[in-house]
Amino acid sequence: MSTEATAAKPAQGGNGWEPNILAFCCNWCSYAGADLAGVSRFQYPATVKILRVMCSSRVEPAFILKALKDGADGVLIAGCHIGDCHYIDGNKNAEVRINNTRKALAKLGFDKRLRLEWVSASEGLRFSEVIKEFTEEIKNLGQNPVKIDIKPQMNADERRLNASSVRSAANVQGSE
Ligand code: FES
Repeated sequence: MSTEATAAKPAQGGNGWEPNILAFCCNWCSYAGADLAGVSRFQYPATVKILRVMCSSRVEPAFILKALKDGADGVLIAGCHIGDCHYIDGNKNAEVRINNTRKALAKLGFDKRLRLEWVSASEGLRFSEVIKEFTEEIKNLGQNPVKIDIKPQMNADERRLNASSVRSAANVQGSE
């Protein structure tokens, strides 16, 4: 999306490190909000890569785990405000699912790397503020430890096992 490039400004970490944030934005509200931020030239750090999904409820725990496993420093899910979801209760379902995933991630100390926000199509400024705020939080947390510690020490089977344990935990909590 060209407007993102216009709006984004490189984030400067103290040691040159810049967080790598993956943002799942729902098509109907948050993606349009990101677009508006670009059109309106509300600046935000170039730490975010936006992935458009039709609804926040489309984001499965496995997507989040894969992003973190592959080295994302933070994952943001942004959707329509409660009551505005184009699929009626999609965002309510997403909230339950993301909260359960966060609980499962807490066991690994990754819960603060996951964030859920509601951003409407008219909230370009809010979108840029959310990205700025989340970027600061992630900077305080530091790099994803998978990237700097665990990944080189784990073989592929161990990584799969780790991801599937968190996935199972999220599913168990989701059915409670
Ligand atoms: S369509 Fe935006 S959260 Fe469902």
